[in-house]
Amino acid sequence: MKRPILIIGAMDVEINFLIDRLENLETNNLNIYNVYKGEIDGYPIIISQSEVGVINSSVITALSIEKYNPLLIINQGTAGGYTRNIHKGDIVIGSECFNIMSAKTPNKGENEGSNSLEWQYVSFTNGGIDKKRTIKADKRLVNFIYKRKNIYLNGNIYIGVIGSGDIWNGEKDKIEYLNKKHDVLCEEMEGISVYTVSNNYNIPVVGVRVISNNTILEEEYDELSALKCQKFTYEVIKDLIKEINIFEK
Ligand code: 5AD
Repeated sequence: MKRPILIIGAMDVEINFLIDRLENLETNNLNIYNVYKGEIDGYPIIISQSEVGVINSSVITALSIEKYNPLLIINQGTAGGYTRNIHKGDIVIGSECFNIMSAKTPNKGENEGSNSLEWQYVSFTNGGIDKKRTIKADKRLVNFIYKRKNIYLNGNIYIGVIGSGDIWNGEKDKIEYLNKKHDVLCEEMEGISVYTVSNNYNIPVVGVRVISNNTILEEEYDELSALKCQKFTYEVIKDLIKEINIFEK
């Protein structure tokens, strides 16, 4: 039996278009999460709805892997842009994912307040040294998708670091800090789980995130961005299926 391609998306607006493209659609559940099983061009596809946040997305990624043994995993959806030249409608392919909530704060006394620009980003590894860590995407997947950047007409496509954690940052200084010091191009709330769990299982993974808002540029959240990302992902999936043998080795 062919191992499916697993797509993970958080919200209805981030997966509806792709669900509508599935042939022989079956709707299932894993725990409290919706799972859509079907085919594109005769190839098996699973779309798992993670809902929002890192806990949800960890659970659904692990459950989906255990149940469906996917060949590769694409986490797609929206994100907030971190720089002046990354606009709504642009796409970031995450070569790496960085946990923007895994941090150690300096010690401060009573009435000394809190300043997240002083946080040190660490990984809290058991028995290891507390140092910064990013989780990698599969290089073949990153390159495969980037090569198709010219078919995307709604913006530019970048390769870079996706920041991920249960937070929506509205502070310009913080965003600039994460961008300048840690190379983060955009932020979202699921990627770090999907990257970590997929890597644990040795399954190739990539995040494809469309910019739906940008605090630095004062561009407000626009849910239509999610549709643009899905249309691009759909074209990518069809091409992936044609060359799926690259990933079967
Ligand atoms: N910050 C955090 N999450 C964002 N998302 C879109 N833009 C942002 C942002 N600026 C995504 C998350 C989550 C939902 C709130 O939207 O991944 O699923």
